[in-house]
Amino acid sequence: MIISSSIINANFLNLERDLNEIKMANVDWLHVDVMDGGFVPNITLGPFILPYLKKQTGLPLDVHLMINNPEKHIKSFADAGANRISIHIENNPNVLRTIQEIRELGVSPGIVLNPGTSPASIDFILPFIDLVLIMTVNPGFSGQTFIPEMINKIRFVKKLITKSNCNALIQVDGGINRETVKQVTDAGADVIVAATAIFGHPNGISAGVNELRQSI
Ligand code: DX5
Ligand code: ZN
Repeated sequence: MIISSSIINANFLNLERDLNEIKMANVDWLHVDVMDGGFVPNITLGPFILPYLKKQTGLPLDVHLMINNPEKHIKSFADAGANRISIHIENNPNVLRTIQEIRELGVSPGIVLNPGTSPASIDFILPFIDLVLIMTVNPGFSGQTFIPEMINKIRFVKKLITKSNCNALIQVDGGINRETVKQVTDAGADVIVAATAIFGHPNGISAGVNELRQSI
């Protein structure tokens, strides 16, 4: 299991300390939740933060764009050091073109499905992407409750990937904790995103990461 730690819940007054701890805790990727106040109700971070995250941790940067018109911004994120960029399929008529542009920028592309979006629509995109991110909460905020109905979507996407003979990873994002992590990995998830379960763990960041690893 690959753990992508969302920095949305880091302590920004002590970001250097939290990044050092996250590195020591052996997470695999850093997940950067980018929200524009339009596609989702919340506003978070832009490309400016990426070089600092990279410098302090050396970890791969897994950028999740929850923004309208992502094609306008992928170059800024690529130039800032993104290793992966995932864009939502909703509200995006030229999604394949944007995916190809991400690849041309030397970045690994992913597609994201909101909880209400049918996974059947990704059938013809699968050969072009490296990752399918299945949202297990409605995007916009950390600390929400996992939507159990998404387990069947993970199983469905796993079958689609096997059938189409491609290598896309399945990532899940939202409400992942010591209970839900086993359910999603059993259903076929390869990568889990977690914010609250790591940064909000009462015994600290390393304890949060260890608990997720031990729960599967
Ligand atoms: C939600 C974000 C998630 C979220 C994860 O829109 O994409 O990455 O912050 O937070 P937790 O792990 O607290 O659900
Ligand atoms: Zn995310």
